Amino acid sequence: MTKPIYVLNGPNLNLLGTREPEIYGHDTLDDIRDALLERVDGRTLEFRQTNSEGELVDWVQEASRDGAAIILNAGAYTHTSIALHDALRACTVPVIEVHLSNPAAREAFRQTNYVAPAATATIAGLGPRGYHVALDAAIRMTA
Ligand code: DQA
Repeated sequence: MTKPIYVLNGPNLNLLGTREPEIYGHDTLDDIRDALLERVDGRTLEFRQTNSEGELVDWVQEASRDGAAIILNAGAYTHTSIALHDALRACTVPVIEVHLSNPAAREAFRQTNYVAPAATATIAGLGPRGYHVALDAAIRMTA
């Protein structure tokens, strides 16, 4: 059986829908998950969110072992986490980084990115549609 595609979401993404909607939109994380489930094309998803850096690292390690690919919105850990960078470096499956907003067009502190150098691809600034693009790519890459 084909391995699942892991969709891992980091800190504060549980607040989507009410969190700064002018930046992140009105969709909740459940809305995003439900829309992805309509596009799985027979594949299975492990869709998760955590506010904990260590848990995110554990899930990257698990996904590298048990998954086909990772779609990762690491939230603010993108800009701070060397532990996450190291976990992604050790990862043996494709990693597609997703951001709802485009951090490159935002504050100076968002210009540091520890995920992108360890990722296969980055999709930013497309809102929830970025997750769709990432899923379509992950499905094709691991067919
Ligand atoms: C984000 C961008 C990050 O800079 C921010 O810390 C987030 C969300 C995005 O999806 O646009 O939490 O990852």
